[in-house]
Order: sequence, then C-alpha cells, then structure tokens
Amino acid sequence: MSLEGLDDSSVRLVMVGGKGGVGKTTCACAVALHLTLTGRKVLIVSSDPTPSLSDIFTIPIGHKETKIDSRFELYGLEISSELVLKGWKERFGPEIYEVVSSFADVDYDFVDYIGTVPGIEEEYMLHFIRELVESGRYDTVVWDTAPAGHTLRLLKLPHLFIKHMEAATKFYMNLYSYAEKLKEAVKFGKSKKTLLQIISGWEELSLQIVHFIRDEARSKYLLVTIPEALGVRLTDRMVTELNENELSVSNIIINYVVQHEDCAFHQTRKRMQEQYMDILHRTHPDINMVTLYLSAEEVRGVDRIHAVSHALFGSDRG
Ligand SMILES: Nc1ncnc2c1ncn2[C@@H]1O[C@H](COP(=O)(O)OP(=O)(O)OP(=O)(O)O)[C@@H](O)[C@H]1O
Ligand SMILES: [Mg+2]
Repeated sequence: MSLEGLDDSSVRLVMVGGKGGVGKTTCACAVALHLTLTGRKVLIVSSDPTPSLSDIFTIPIGHKETKIDSRFELYGLEISSELVLKGWKERFGPEIYEVVSSFADVDYDFVDYIGTVPGIEEEYMLHFIRELVESGRYDTVVWDTAPAGHTLRLLKLPHLFIKHMEAATKFYMNLYSYAEKLKEAVKFGKSKKTLLQIISGWEELSLQIVHFIRDEARSKYLLVTIPEALGVRLTDRMVTELNENELSVSNIIINYVVQHEDCAFHQTRKRMQEQYMDILHRTHPDINMVTLYLSAEEVRGVDRIHAVSHALFGSDRG
C-alpha cells in the first residue's frame, strides 16, 4: 500500500501529526521530497522547538526559507514559537491595544500578556501557514507539526479567545451604554474601526483559517504512529478529535515495523506489532494505512529520505 491523495494537484497543504518520536519529521521530509520529484515546488515547515529539519537534511535551515538541495525545488523553514508570537504581535497588537484600552486602563505591555493566552500561538501558527500557502510561492507546503495534543489544541482554542474578547467588549459597551454613541461613533486610531468591527475582523480571520484546514481537496492530514498500545490509543484519540472538528485523516503511516523474523527477538516483536496493526486496520477501516519498516540506520540526508519516499509512495523518480 502507498500513500494516497497527496499527489493531487489540488493539494496545497499536507499536515503531518502524531505522538512524539514516531517519525513525523522523517515522514514529512519524505512526503516533501516525493512531491518535489513529481515536479512541484515544495516548502517543508517545521514548528518543532528543536531544529529538526537541519538535523535530518544535515544543512543549517533556520528561520529563513532555505533551498535544501540545489538539484530540487525543495525548501525548508524552521519556525519557533517566539517568531510566531512576534508576528502575531505585529499583526494584532495595535488593534488589541485599541480595543482593551478603550475600556480599561492598560499600557501596551498588556499585548504581551494577551500573547500568552492559550490558543493565540496556535491560531497564529495556522494563520502563518495559511499565508505561506496562499502566497503562491510554493505549489505545496508540508507542515511537520509539533507532537500530538498540541496540534489538537490548534483546533479548539482560537474561538475561545475571540468569544472572550467579544463578551468582554459587549459587557463594557453595555456598561457605558448611556454614551450610546460609543457603539458606532467612536473610531479607533489608525484603523478607524469600531470595537465590534475589529473583533468581528478577528472572528472572520479565525473562521477563514478553520475553513482552510477543513477543505479536504486542499489540505490533507497525515498521521504517523507506531504499532504499540500507546500508538494505537493516541491515534484513536487524534482521529476522533480531528473528526469532531470536521477534519479527516487521509492516511496513517505505521512506522518502525519489523520486516524480517530473522531471530527470536524480531519474531516476538513482529508478532506484537501485528496485533496492533490489526487493531489499527479494524478500528479505522476507511483510512488508508501504509507500513514503514524499521531500517538499520537512522534516516539522515537526502538519499535516505529518498528511500523512505520510495517506501511510502511506491515508485519515485530521481
Ligand atoms: N523507519 C525508520 N527506520 C529507522 N529509523 C527511523 C525510522 N523512522 C524514523 N527514524 C529515526 O527515528 C528518529 C526519530 O524520528 P523523527 O525525528 O522523524 O521523529 P518525530 O516524530 O519527528 O520526533 P519528535 O516528536 O521529537 O519531533 C530519527 O533519528 C529518525 O532518523
Ligand atoms: Mg519531529
């Protein structure tokens, strides 16, 4: 079996998720390399706190979009949460300050505080990824997401913050309602928008982001897991939570599978793995599953990643 649906030209974003250490970055790199070899210009983005792409491709990558290999149209980018928050502050800081300072005596540092509210970083990360996709600079963006849990938060929290701000604003506006004109007449700073216009702008943005990742023709979600109890449990949880958020998983890669029963150790391990692979297949009959064998060597450098692409997609040029 090989990965399905990722080659379609409509696919603009591939999100790779899963538990820590299961091979997400390795698989994300292999998918990106494969897409590059089909003639596409691809950016692989890692939002991992450790610079994992640099390690795998054995070249420095960092915060700037960097060409990975002169032979391919493959680029890499490692973004840190600090960078994401900085972008968020530049984009939303002034508006947030305008809104909050209209009803509370705060100084601009308050924006830093808001930046620590759960959900902000995740929402802005999605915003950042969406902008990369929509910039049109790449045919496809492959996103190596942070380990599980974290990714799920992405989908839950954005609305919470907006609802919170909206409720607070409405509350204060009611409080000052005797100054009826506040509602419409007071325009803010450079933006010349009313409070509710600013907040509904955020809400609109949040909805656009959700809409963007739910668009199955353009955005694909790929999970990586291991054939062990923990991997199975976490996969079930992620698939369920993603489905609850109207997102479906297109493929699951089952990694670190023992290929040959060439000794008692491998025989026992393979038997154990087969049980869990069976459970995975039975629990998610509608999701395409691909087995990736454990290789003797770690996966580093373009050649080894290419071998993984080959295993995941069947044939590959290059
Ligand atoms: N099929 C495989 N065979 C052999 N080694 C593998 C295989 N898949 C991944 N590895 C190795 O396992 C290690 C972990 O892989 P990787 O960094 O891709 O995991 P990850 O899920 O991204 O981890 P993290 O959650 O820490 O980001 C790496 O050293 C990688 O080379
Ligand atoms: Mg990783």
